Amino acid sequence: MLNNKPVGIFDSGYGGLTVFRSIFQQLPGYDYIYLGDTGRAPYGNRSFQTIHQYTWECVQWLFDKGCPLVILACNTASAKALRTIQQTDLKNEDPLKRVLGVIRPTAEVIGDYTKTKEIGVLGTKGTVQSESYLIEISHFFPDVKVYQQACPLWVPLIENGEYNKPGADYFVKQYLDQLLAQSPNIDTLLLACTHYPLLREKIKQFLPGNIQVVSQGDIVAKSLADYLQRHPEMDNNLSKNSTQQFFTTTDDTADFDQHAAFFFSAPVKSAFAEIRC
Ligand code: DGL
Repeated sequence: MLNNKPVGIFDSGYGGLTVFRSIFQQLPGYDYIYLGDTGRAPYGNRSFQTIHQYTWECVQWLFDKGCPLVILACNTASAKALRTIQQTDLKNEDPLKRVLGVIRPTAEVIGDYTKTKEIGVLGTKGTVQSESYLIEISHFFPDVKVYQQACPLWVPLIENGEYNKPGADYFVKQYLDQLLAQSPNIDTLLLACTHYPLLREKIKQFLPGNIQVVSQGDIVAKSLADYLQRHPEMDNNLSKNSTQQFFTTTDDTADFDQHAAFFFSAPVKSAFAEIRC
């Protein structure tokens, strides 16, 4: 049967498509199912309990579709739901099922980007409040200082197609100014939300030239390639027919496809996913 053991890729909405694009470029041979919970997005300002419940429902849906491996291509879900899923929920599942996030692979390498040893992290309120990046980066790079800024209005701007319009300038500049006011020595900005690569060009307009902007797609893709090499039991279990399927929890799939194409930089044809609650 074709496509029976795909890699599942999950995000609250469209942002995970920026990660999926990089994963598919690096690992084109595998089968993939993308699920965007656009019907309930954004997750960024929601409570821990709600983010965990929504994320676990979506992970189970991907398991039911045959995915032995699910990537939470969402920082908010990785920050607020991954630990409980890995330490509690997966205990009742087949031991061959795995769920991985995007924060740890990013924290493992982000310290290599900075010369001043000072990094700025831009994320949703949920990601920033969880302090996951402060904790994870300090494990791998104890000498690197991390400053954070929540950007609660960026995901709504992006999801509503306003990310490249002049009205977005005010909100982009506002959060960047707040972050950079925390230290003059920040030389690396991490886009710690998978939606933010769409704002990358606008962000760069408001930054001094010595500050580099890092997105996660390639980092996560490289880390997944490395994981699959180190885990042949998982790699051998995944089907490899180079297929892609897209699902959304919004019943207007045409609307999803139109937005999704910008994030994925390629046409997208989705189907409706009914998530049991
Ligand atoms: N793309 C998600 C992330 O990386 C957040 C979007 C949301 O707020 O739902 O955090």
